Amino acid sequence: MTDRPALRSQRLNQVTHAPHSELDALVKSHAPFDSRESFARFVVAQYLFQAELKALYNDPQLIAIVPDLAERCRAEQARLDLADLNTEVPAAVPGAVQNPSLAEAMGWIFVSEGSKLGAAFLIKRAVALELSDSFGARHLGEPAGGRAEGWKQFTRILDGLELSPEEDAAAERAAVAAFERFTELLKHAYAADAALA
Ligand code: HEM
Repeated sequence: MTDRPALRSQRLNQVTHAPHSELDALVKSHAPFDSRESFARFVVAQYLFQAELKALYNDPQLIAIVPDLAERCRAEQARLDLADLNTEVPAAVPGAVQNPSLAEAMGWIFVSEGSKLGAAFLIKRAVALELSDSFGARHLGEPAGGRAEGWKQFTRILDGLELSPEEDAAAERAAVAAFERFTELLKHAYAADAALA
């Protein structure tokens, strides 16, 4: 047994460590930086994930907790990236998160916000495809105010929330579910491409 960290954000890190490693490996198995075609499939998954979370990023109850939440959503950047990459906006995939509790919503947003950290590495590789935060890889761009600062502010709020043990457990399950969902969307995005080929 590993010790349970004192901070909620650290506990969420811990429970999502294995799913993150698996997703990282799955992303890399598709070599998204070998061609714009493969990268576009990755953007399809990112777009679908962000589009599914749009309602949470714009939820007044959640904005009352995280004031800049709406500006943190990257659905619009991902949509513009798809246009840059001459890729159609994909149809929604059944199974999106529906009416999560507050604690669950925070678990999902934790994963979406955390993915901006890995994006710092990904955008550097996108340069080889002549993509950037103003063309094709906008959704991987550095958020206003900086990645580290944005993450620190988000986790500070998350860690300060009063949640019951049951709610905490629900937030952890939600974070794991978010990784499962992204994995499903990634598989869908690359499978849809194979079907067209
Ligand atoms: C949908 C969710 C996520 C996706 C698709 C994702 C994807 C990735 C990928 C592909 C890398 C490897 C980058 C490289 O080596 O070139 C990476 C690295 C990283 N990710 Fe994520 N990630 C997600 C969520 C998260 C979350 C929730 C956190 C933090 C809580 C996080 C933190 C990091 C960090 C710090 C790195 C840098 C390298 C490392 O320490 O392993 N990511 N991510």
